[in-house]
Amino acid sequence: MTARVTPDREVVLETDRLLLRPWRVAEAVVQRELWTERDPRVPPHRRIGADGRPTVAELAESIRAEQPSPIGLLAVERKAARDVVGYCGLIDGGRGSPGEPELAFELLRRVWRQGYATEASSAVLDWARSSGYARLWATVWDWNTASRRVLAKLGFTETGRQEVDPVHGTTLFTTKEL
Ligand SMILES: CC(C)(COP(=O)(O)OP(=O)(O)OC[C@H]1O[C@@H](n2cnc3c(N)ncnc32)[C@H](O)[C@@H]1OP(=O)(O)O)[C@@H](O)C(=O)NCCC(=O)NCCS
Repeated sequence: MTARVTPDREVVLETDRLLLRPWRVAEAVVQRELWTERDPRVPPHRRIGADGRPTVAELAESIRAEQPSPIGLLAVERKAARDVVGYCGLIDGGRGSPGEPELAFELLRRVWRQGYATEASSAVLDWARSSGYARLWATVWDWNTASRRVLAKLGFTETGRQEVDPVHGTTLFTTKEL
């Protein structure tokens, strides 16, 4: 993995097959595709509403409004195909602890099961370690077998903390020391 920081303090990570870099406004269509593909068990505020929102224009606006940051959810671009297939990165102030951000990832269904989530996350973990973070968190639905497997492959362990939602499932809290 190689990492570099742009003049805007944005992080760009490179792996064998992937480039992790800030989103471009034109890629709002990819973000909307991710929204449309979400599992029906995902809570409604994370899925496209009956009114069709968020629209591509709204997602484009949020990309435009994003402040440069050394932490965040990076677009995952495949180097060979030069297409953006999802995101991976860190959320500060998520459900982790202060100074201990949360890892998050989501990819388009057509690229699942090719090791991309694990490869992208490994690069984010390396970057976090070299940036001085000592511990990361990740939350995952108990029914999300693929994500639980990715977290296990990365070395995240379950803490025993859970949040039970009778409608959407149980959220498991996992953590990894870097
Ligand atoms: C979770 C997600 C990012 C994984 O992406 P991916 O690129 O397919 O992940 P990888 O290929 O690196 O690894 C997936 C692992 O899960 C396994 N897996 C995938 N689907 C599975 C299933 N239904 N049952 C059992 N194992 C499964 C794969 O076999 C692989 O494990 P292996 O390497 O031991 O064979 C992708 O499924 C996704 O975007 N899901 C929706 C969003 C999401 O859940 N985000 C995480 C929220 S916590």
